[in-house]
Amino acid sequence: MGAAQRKVIVVGAGSGIGAATAAHFHERGDHVLAVDVRESDTPATEFRRCDLRNPSDVEDLLRDVGSGWDLLAHVAGVPGTAPAAEVMKINYFGMRLMALGMLPLLQPGGSIVAVASTAGVGWEMRAAQLEDLLSATDPAAVESWLAGQDPSYPVYNTSKEAVILFAKRLSGPAWAKYGVRINTVSPGPTETPILTDFEESMGRDLLDTVRTTVGRHATVDDIVPIIAFLGSPEARWITGQDIRADGGFVNSLLAGPPIAL
Ligand SMILES: NC(=O)c1ccc[n+]([C@@H]2O[C@H](COP(=O)([O-])OP(=O)(O)OC[C@H]3O[C@@H](n4cnc5c(N)ncnc54)[C@H](O)[C@@H]3O)[C@@H](O)[C@H]2O)c1
Repeated sequence: MGAAQRKVIVVGAGSGIGAATAAHFHERGDHVLAVDVRESDTPATEFRRCDLRNPSDVEDLLRDVGSGWDLLAHVAGVPGTAPAAEVMKINYFGMRLMALGMLPLLQPGGSIVAVASTAGVGWEMRAAQLEDLLSATDPAAVESWLAGQDPSYPVYNTSKEAVILFAKRLSGPAWAKYGVRINTVSPGPTETPILTDFEESMGRDLLDTVRTTVGRHATVDDIVPIIAFLGSPEARWITGQDIRADGGFVNSLLAGPPIAL
């Protein structure tokens, strides 16, 4: 007899890491609601179309899904090649709406795992700059915040910094009020369809440097077990954390000279 069946929502289940996450829980025998803007053949119990750019889509979804969920795996995202306002609305604001809306629909002991990115590594240094963004409660306010930002700073990085910071700030109240944990996973480059867009927006040289440093890019099989663990009861004492899953690349930049072996 396997572990008890759990109820899992995967947002961004149509492709890449999200599809592999949904497949993981489906194979485990869980009830999986696969959510995406596009149709897919991702194995799941039920499918629901939702465009994170539209808060009304998210509201409709939240109104219809009912309660008693164990996990929200919020994976959906777009690269920096998408229009800047869409990057912010999908990667950050859509995640924010889903996380806030799901809190009362998750069981105590349940959790939220959102996929951020190593591109969000600068969140600590940018916290003051992100302050007004975190106060924005509708997409128009997010857009107007964006209009005041330096357009040369990569918006994808901003969106992922905001995901990490928002999750950290939500984690205390979510734990106190709902008994729900919230963590983020920050992958480095991972072999999914989005990677070619990253080569365009971040530069092939950077991605080649990452691969050379750590030996290869990740696959979805490197990332899904981390989402699964953070979303499991075994991770019951972990909340408000960002887990970097990058083969050690960021560490090689931040930790100082390596110990010689
Ligand atoms: N692949 C990488 O190298 C990498 C690295 C770090 C972080 N990430 C992050 O991982 C997450 C998953 O990316 P992936 O690599 O699986 O890419 P992917 O393109 O394969 O999957 C992204 C999914 O998000 C969905 N999506 C896009 N816009 C949406 C919208 N408006 N509403 C609902 N769903 C929408 C897409 O339809 C797709 O199914 C993203 O948040 C991405 O930023 C990826």
